[in-house]
Amino acid sequence: MPGLFGPLNPPFADYRGRRVWVIGASYGIGAAIARELLARGAQVALSARSRSLLQGVADGHADALVAPLDVTDVASVHAAAKVIERAWGGFDLALVVAGTHAEMRARAGRADGGEAQLDASHWNLARARQLLEVNLHGVLNCVDAILPVLERQASGGIGIVASVAGYIGLPKALIYGASKAALINFAESLYGDLRPQGIGVYLVNPGFVDTPLTRKNRFAMPALMKAEDAARVTLDGIAAGAFEIHYPKRFTRWLKLLRMAPYRLQFAAVRRATGS
Ligand SMILES: NC(=O)c1ccc[n+]([C@@H]2O[C@H](COP(=O)([O-])OP(=O)(O)OC[C@H]3O[C@@H](n4cnc5c(N)ncnc54)[C@H](OP(=O)(O)O)[C@@H]3O)[C@@H](O)[C@H]2O)c1
Repeated sequence: MPGLFGPLNPPFADYRGRRVWVIGASYGIGAAIARELLARGAQVALSARSRSLLQGVADGHADALVAPLDVTDVASVHAAAKVIERAWGGFDLALVVAGTHAEMRARAGRADGGEAQLDASHWNLARARQLLEVNLHGVLNCVDAILPVLERQASGGIGIVASVAGYIGLPKALIYGASKAALINFAESLYGDLRPQGIGVYLVNPGFVDTPLTRKNRFAMPALMKAEDAARVTLDGIAAGAFEIHYPKRFTRWLKLLRMAPYRLQFAAVRRATGS
């Protein structure tokens, strides 16, 4: 186990020849990570629902393996893991990037469940459950397929992409934030369980990154990053053996500070910054 100093996880000196499974690799941050890994010489298994988009990211690369799945369908996740195991005999790193976002606030909808229920500014139980199905249960489905392989190998690592939205409660992120807060806590516990077994656990908390997911946002996104930069910082953080990889620091450090502030101050600062 790591001591007081030094990296919390086994560092990856070099990605060349490493077998990495990226789940959520068809577009956005996951696709950028997959492309960056291929450029760094890794063998990359690409998963998500859209086979054609995955093939586009793989771009005929000899080191790429396309294994489509839906994270909400645990059988499809296990089937993809089997394909990778058959091809590679295991993997050195699995990154669970897949996730989705749907704005929601807690204003009550119409009692008759009419139009207002579809509005992002209203409470909608079905939509809340759908979001958790992908962002939380979907990740657990992936872990269910990844863990046995890593435990059998007694080596390798798992990375989970959560979000700084999991640090504190933010407006419009009623369920999204809750799903990411759950993942942060989950990754912390997972680290305690897996690190003594020689397995690394990496928690990735991005701020705002320009992807199809954030292009839907109708508010100003501070310190917005390019997906390619997010991919590089993520892979460098894992290579260095960090536990938490958060970016961009000029945004995430403020949020970390706010998380430690008394609620009175935190709530006031969020209201002021977001105008809601
Ligand atoms: N962009 C940001 O600012 C930001 C900030 C903080 C955290 N994050 C987190 O980073 C991760 C990636 O975000 P992004 O911005 O790159 O999102 P994105 O552009 O919407 O990409 C999402 C990826 O997840 C896959 N995916 C979605 N639902 C899936 C399902 N049911 N099964 C399998 N794959 C699925 C999508 O592929 P298919 O549609 O082909 O399945 C796609 O590859 C998410 O977990 C997100 O919450 C993003």
